Amino acid sequence: MAAMVSLACGGGAESTDALGVLRDPPPGDFERIPPEPGELDPFAQNARLGRGMNIGDALEAPVEGQWGVRLQYRYFELLQETGFDSLRLPIRWSSHAAETAPYTIQPEFMARIEWAVGHALARDMPVIINVHHYDEIQEDPAGHSARLAALWRQIGEHFADYPAGLYFEVLNEPKLDPMTDAAWNAVLAESLAAIRESNPGRTVLVGGTEWNKWYTLDEVVWPEDDQNLIATFHYYEPFSFTHQGWSGGGPEGTTWGTEAEYTRLETDFAEAAAWSASANRPLHVGEFGVRNVAAIADRAAWTAAVVDQCAEHGMSFAYWDLVSNFNAYDDVKGAWIPELRAALVE
Ligand code: BGC
Repeated sequence: MAAMVSLACGGGAESTDALGVLRDPPPGDFERIPPEPGELDPFAQNARLGRGMNIGDALEAPVEGQWGVRLQYRYFELLQETGFDSLRLPIRWSSHAAETAPYTIQPEFMARIEWAVGHALARDMPVIINVHHYDEIQEDPAGHSARLAALWRQIGEHFADYPAGLYFEVLNEPKLDPMTDAAWNAVLAESLAAIRESNPGRTVLVGGTEWNKWYTLDEVVWPEDDQNLIATFHYYEPFSFTHQGWSGGGPEGTTWGTEAEYTRLETDFAEAAAWSASANRPLHVGEFGVRNVAAIADRAAWTAAVVDQCAEHGMSFAYWDLVSNFNAYDDVKGAWIPELRAALVE
């Protein structure tokens, strides 16, 4: 292994190895004071998330880098400098854990997540970590529920002393049959209990089925004795526009922006907001975005419309995403796509 030569001390220091290759610096310091049970107001915790960003296609790939994105130190700096408040990190734990009990997570993968979480918290940027792309549990919820809970038990214990700026999200996008509402509620109860064993005071995000649609939130069995939860949904409507040319979307060139389309979007958000008010649970829009093949004017208009709805209804958000195929940032040019930056944070 090449010898490491440290160029400076402390958090954020960059270092090069003997060949002069730039290495990721370690995160700086942050206080390890976990939230006490009952200490956090979930509405205030949701407000802290504010305007956030997903770094997709990195830790959610079967192996980081396989989908063309590796987390980089400069992404954390970039997000903060640009005015984003928080970060959502989609993570494929299921590819980095044993298939049999006790389902041990690979220590080097845990260390990688710790590095990423540390970089966010050291700059006081709240960060959500989730379980993403656990495809096997979608196919066999009951058969994988104990494994998901075991993953959360390990993640929970590992990060138990982390501050309130670290949020957990139980499972990205529970789908459909066999992940029915009943199946999801059973899985959720087991994993939430596992999280609460070591993290009684941490804020946890929970979404509904059908890929986290807002109208399935009402089917979630919300534990009456656990108020420290934020409800989350994903918004990609109309799918034909946002996913054009890919994954069941419409043809490339699908446009957006008629009066009826604006009205539809506002109606969807009004429905979500009405649920939030009646359930007394804050709402986070954990994913929304448009593929980068769409016309930029339409992408920006749709993104601005979603951001406006979030502001109107007091919802926090995380845009999908920074540098992959829904990207707001052009990593080749090293520049934001100005229209999207304007829609998201200006
Ligand atoms: C998936 C990504 C996908 C995005 C938009 C996310 O939940 O993890 O792979 O690009 O949704 O469909």
